[in-house]
Amino acid sequence: MTALPRIPLVHGPTPIVKRYGLDELTGVNLWIKRDDVTGGAESANKVRMLEWLLGDAIGRRADTILTCGGLQSNHARATALVCASLGLACVLFLRVDDPLRSPLPLEGNVLLDRMAGAEIRLIPHAEYAQRGAIMESASLEFRDRGRRPYVVPEGGSNGLGSLGYVEYMRETAAQMHQGLAGGDAPFDVIVHACRSGGTAAGIALGAARFNVAKSVRAMAVCNDAAYFQEVIARVVNETRSWDASLREAAPLVVDDVSKGLAYAVSSPEQRETIVRVARTSGLVLDPVYCGKAMHDLQAAVERRDIAAGARVLFVHTGGLPGLLAQGDAFGAELA
Ligand SMILES: Cc1ncc(COP(=O)(O)O)c(C=O)c1O
Repeated sequence: MTALPRIPLVHGPTPIVKRYGLDELTGVNLWIKRDDVTGGAESANKVRMLEWLLGDAIGRRADTILTCGGLQSNHARATALVCASLGLACVLFLRVDDPLRSPLPLEGNVLLDRMAGAEIRLIPHAEYAQRGAIMESASLEFRDRGRRPYVVPEGGSNGLGSLGYVEYMRETAAQMHQGLAGGDAPFDVIVHACRSGGTAAGIALGAARFNVAKSVRAMAVCNDAAYFQEVIARVVNETRSWDASLREAAPLVVDDVSKGLAYAVSSPEQRETIVRVARTSGLVLDPVYCGKAMHDLQAAVERRDIAAGARVLFVHTGGLPGLLAQGDAFGAELA
C-alpha cells in the first residue's frame, strides 16, 4: 500500500481467544478476537479507524475534529479521548429526541466525552439525517474563528477509516499462521455487529485479501439488510480507491433477522444472552452492539443459516460504556 498517513493508536495485536462454554452455547467452533481491548478507556473498534482518519487530519494540520453519533456513541467517546491524547480539540454532534429536554448524563460514553473536554452539541433526531451538512456548516464557523477543522464521518465509516479493518485482517492472518486461532484454515464466517458499515467493509475486503474467511456476516443492530448492503458497498468502493491491492470483497451477508426492537433498545432474550455469555465466559457484551450480534449468531445457527460446528470468528467490537449506561434495563435478567 502507498504510504498513507497513519498514527499508531491500537494496542495490538488484540488477542484471539477460545471459550469452550461459548462453543456449547452457540453450537459452533467459536473464536473471539478481542477488539474490545484495542486500548484503555478509548478502546474498541473505532480506534482502528481513527489511526487513519486522525493521521490524515494531522497530516492536514487540523486542530479541531468534528464528528457525530447517537448520545451514547462509542465512536464519539473514542474520538474525544484520542483527541485529548493528541492535543486536538473535539466537537461532538450527538443525536437526542429533544435537545431542550436532554440534560447531558454523567454516565457511560457521555461521562467520558465530558471527561475528555469535548464540546458537545445536541442534534434533534429529526435533523440527524442532515448531520453531514450540519458538521460542514460548523466547520465554516470554526474556520472563520481561525481554527483548522476536520470532519470525521459518523462511525469513522469512510474508505480511509475502513482501512483500519483491512489491517485488522492482516493482523488476524498473522495470528492464524502462528497457530493462535486453531490453525490457519480460513474461518467459515466472521460475525460482527454492524451500524455505520466501515467495520463490515474493511473486514470483507481484508478477509478476501488475506484469506482469513470464506464469508462475513454483518449483524445489523438497526435499519434493514437493503440499507446496509448499499452503505457497505459504497464504503467498499471508497476503500479500494485508497489501496489498489484490494480487489474482490469476501461474500457478505447482512443479517437483520434478530436485530430487535430498535437501535440501542434490547429485548429480554438479548439481555439473557448477554448475562449468560458473561457467566459462561467472563466476556462482557454490550446491549447496543455485541450482545445483539452474539444473540443473532445463536439465532442464525438455530435457523441453520450458519452450519452447526462451523469455524466462526466473532469480532468483539467493545462498547462496555454503553452497557454501563443501561444497567437499569437488566433488572429482570439479574434478579
Ligand atoms: C461497540 C461497537 N460495535 C460495533 C459497531 C459497528 O461498527 P460500524 O459502525 O463500523 O458498523 C459500533 C459502532 O459504533 C460500536 O460502537
